[in-house]
Amino acid sequence: MKFYTLDEDFIRVPFGDIAAIKQAAQDHDEICAIFVEPIQGEGGLNTAANGFTYLEELQVECEARNWLFMLDEVQTGNGRTGKYFAYQHSNARPDVLTTAKGLGNGFPVGACMVRGRANGLFGAGSHGSTYGGTPLASRVVHSVYDVLANSDIMTNAVTEGLFIRETLVDTLGQYGVSSRGAGMMIGIALPEDMDCSQLVDRARDEQKLIINVTGGHVVRLLPPLNMSRDESTQVAERLIDLLKPSFR
Ligand SMILES: Cc1ncc(COP(=O)(O)O)c(C=O)c1O
Repeated sequence: MKFYTLDEDFIRVPFGDIAAIKQAAQDHDEICAIFVEPIQGEGGLNTAANGFTYLEELQVECEARNWLFMLDEVQTGNGRTGKYFAYQHSNARPDVLTTAKGLGNGFPVGACMVRGRANGLFGAGSHGSTYGGTPLASRVVHSVYDVLANSDIMTNAVTEGLFIRETLVDTLGQYGVSSRGAGMMIGIALPEDMDCSQLVDRARDEQKLIINVTGGHVVRLLPPLNMSRDESTQVAERLIDLLKPSFR
């Protein structure tokens, strides 16, 4: 097993475009896997036009060609979208899944899970790390999963995520604002010609809100999964106050 600059070894195709995958398969004979986020986080909170069904289509392509089907669930995993992992919104099952972020609820830890054809590709010692697999990190993950499994936190993520999205679109939809995402992975798409360069700073300074703008014009919100209705209302109202002056 070798590790080297992976970036050059990826062929990039547009998200959600199965025809582009089939074309890549024709153009290149050394493809061994598909690696994809169920919802693109940094790329602008992109969801496929056919939603999570896209993952099932990808798995079909992988199985037909003996490619590994690999998911990056670093952002989408660990309850963020209302399921343990976002692929569980579909019937797809990945061979490899990477995750981090919510896995440790703030504690630095990441994980790579494998099954089926991917089993045994990594053995003990093939991927070492000074702090990898520490008992403390493992215990933290265990506690996070205890909470996910034994509380209504994932249901809450779905209910409150929808509430925030609906509140924003009810008020700002008339100005061309729309929403996308799943659970507490929320994208608020602003008109493409809107100048968003100051939004992150203004949100922090004027509204005491930490947001991100991804893909140029999509406000990305990744709120805590356990927010109360009162807190969700505050987030939505502050965002509306932040954005409304842009539409006058
Ligand atoms: C979707 C996605 N994948 C991978 C990473 C990298 O994760 P890590 O910092 O745990 O290597 C990030 C970090 O932001 C991410 O958002």
